[in-house]
Amino acid sequence: MFALAPSMNARIETLALIRLTCWRMLERAARELDHEWRTLALASVAGNGAEARAEVRTVVLREVDTVARRLVFYTDSRSPKVRQIERQPLATLLAWSATAGWQLRLRCRLEVETSGLAVSSRWARLKMTPAAQDYLSPLAPGEPLDSQWSPLTPARATRESFAVVTAQIEAIDWLELHADGHRRAIFDAHGERWISP
Ligand SMILES: Cc1cc2nc3c(=O)[nH]c(=O)nc-3n(C[C@H](O)[C@H](O)[C@H](O)COP(=O)(O)O)c2cc1C
Repeated sequence: MFALAPSMNARIETLALIRLTCWRMLERAARELDHEWRTLALASVAGNGAEARAEVRTVVLREVDTVARRLVFYTDSRSPKVRQIERQPLATLLAWSATAGWQLRLRCRLEVETSGLAVSSRWARLKMTPAAQDYLSPLAPGEPLDSQWSPLTPARATRESFAVVTAQIEAIDWLELHADGHRRAIFDAHGERWISP
């Protein structure tokens, strides 16, 4: 069913320590550019009713607040994901570490902010970096390009498309692949418990 991870690491025994280690790894991922969890896959629901489908994309983990169980990433407020989140804020973030043999499914409630101190303070830092260009395009993400378009089209010097997305983590579904046997646990509002992998 699963490929076995040739992990030589000592296994963490207790659920409490596993939970803590998950959050410590996420904290490191927000600081270290090359961490395996620096990028996460964000799945949301696009469309309604019979047309509803899962949509998934990569996002960069920017901040982690372990005590509040919150993660932060940035996006373009015009992107389709923002409209999806507004309709259905319940989403899932996916992380896989081949080094640890750990998969996290982070079930979360998302909130998008496009104004206020949370946005302006982060933009003040971001605008000094090349990443600011990601939010200054005159075109919305996914907008068709016409023949007039050039990658050198001047960027607008505003932050009006910059949005901060906060993910309130409601449950962690942790899976460890290991040659001595896989393990899986849930950490949520009801506590922490082992489940069958
Ligand atoms: C490595 C990588 C990192 C990315 N980071 C972000 C990010 O932090 N925020 C974001 O909105 N899009 C990011 N993207 C682009 C998204 O994956 C996606 O293509 C884009 O946001 C449009 O998604 P949507 O159409 O679902 O809104 C990243 C893509 C890659 C490949």
